[in-house]
Amino acid sequence: MDHFDYRDGDLYAEDVAVRDLAERYGTPLFVYSRATLERHFKAFDDALEGVDHLVCYAVKANSNLAVLNVLARLGAGFDIVSAGELQRVLAAGGDPAKIVFSGVGKRVDEIELALKAGIRSFNVESEAELERLSDIAARAGVRAPVALRVNPDVDAKTHPYISTGLKENKFGIDMSQAERLFLKANELPGLKVSGMDCHIGSQLTELQPLLDAMGRMLELVDRLGQRGVEIHHLNVGGGLGIRYNSEQPPHPSDYARALTPLLGGRKLQILMEPGRAIAGNAGLLLTRVEYLKPTPHRNFAIVDASMSELIRPTLYNAWQNIVPTHKNRQATTKTWDIVGPVCESGDWLGKERELAISQGDLLAVRSAGAYGFTMSSNYNSRPRPAEVMVDGAQVHLVREREKVEQLFELEKVLPK
Ligand code: LLP
Repeated sequence: MDHFDYRDGDLYAEDVAVRDLAERYGTPLFVYSRATLERHFKAFDDALEGVDHLVCYAVKANSNLAVLNVLARLGAGFDIVSAGELQRVLAAGGDPAKIVFSGVGKRVDEIELALKAGIRSFNVESEAELERLSDIAARAGVRAPVALRVNPDVDAKTHPYISTGLKENKFGIDMSQAERLFLKANELPGLKVSGMDCHIGSQLTELQPLLDAMGRMLELVDRLGQRGVEIHHLNVGGGLGIRYNSEQPPHPSDYARALTPLLGGRKLQILMEPGRAIAGNAGLLLTRVEYLKPTPHRNFAIVDASMSELIRPTLYNAWQNIVPTHKNRQATTKTWDIVGPVCESGDWLGKERELAISQGDLLAVRSAGAYGFTMSSNYNSRPRPAEVMVDGAQVHLVREREKVEQLFELEKVLPK
């Protein structure tokens, strides 16, 4: 459920007509709904009520400071993958003691920064990283809290680019090596083993792979317990899908209901790292139709947003709903390919969409709150769009539109 709805034929974000936002801030424009963000975070938090838990929002989905701040105010933890994301969370008022640090390639300076900040846990993904982390922590005279990310080798049944829990993926520690590495981590001077972690993929629409992964982790927790390694928290990762089209992803409460009985009597804190399920349907991308270009083969609607602002259709062949922001009574319905101005044939936002549109109309690309702005680029020297957050009848500009001068302010021509 989200807070984008039609009222008398006009699309609203909470109590604000998105058409007014386009007038005021221009297009392309990312529009977020605070009430939706909060609702989705609470869906996870409430689902785990009664279980010791921490919901760590995956910052990569949408790292705007206002988004992070809204979630921090609700007590969210954060899953980060870089020093950049760490600094964003801190700047947004996030609690460092609720931060977990994922990723296969943590640099020395990133580890140092995170140690200094006092984060909750490093999700370690290899033996080499384990050694690096222990060395850095020992030198600083501290013990780094670690969770080992295991690769449970389950098929998440999602797009191959966003599947991470198969043994051929670069992520996590192979199950066959996990026990040895937990024992090693337990001995290393700079480490304090605190948890076990796993993330099998994204946009999952079935629970079974998540539950299978959980089962495999619990077996390992038990084996480790017998060998004197105590695991305090189990991080089940993110990955719960959202509805872009006709998907029927499980609700967080279904997930929690299936997951918690598996814990048996074990005393484990549960961590989760949802990103898309919190931010995805809390945002849309507003774009204006620049030209209509019917051809004998296809009808193109050329809009002012592109793969530079939203790369998911290009990169994953992802389907995102594209809707008019108000009913056009003049135009007749036709089948359109919605494409951007970027010089790539792959620059499209939607194909074969039945729409009644005219030049100058506004369209909204739904479900663009996650992996939208964060994956945007300046390709074709396109300044990145502004972002606004609607809160009831109020609108906050949470990121200004980039200016072209900013795109090359770090560049220099050669001396004469
Ligand atoms: N935890 C870890 C370790 C992750 O790698 C990810 C996402 C998450 C949590 C959050 O997953 P979520 O709940 O959002 O599914 N750009 C792609 C998605 C890439 C996901 C990368 N990792 C897309 O636009 O579909």
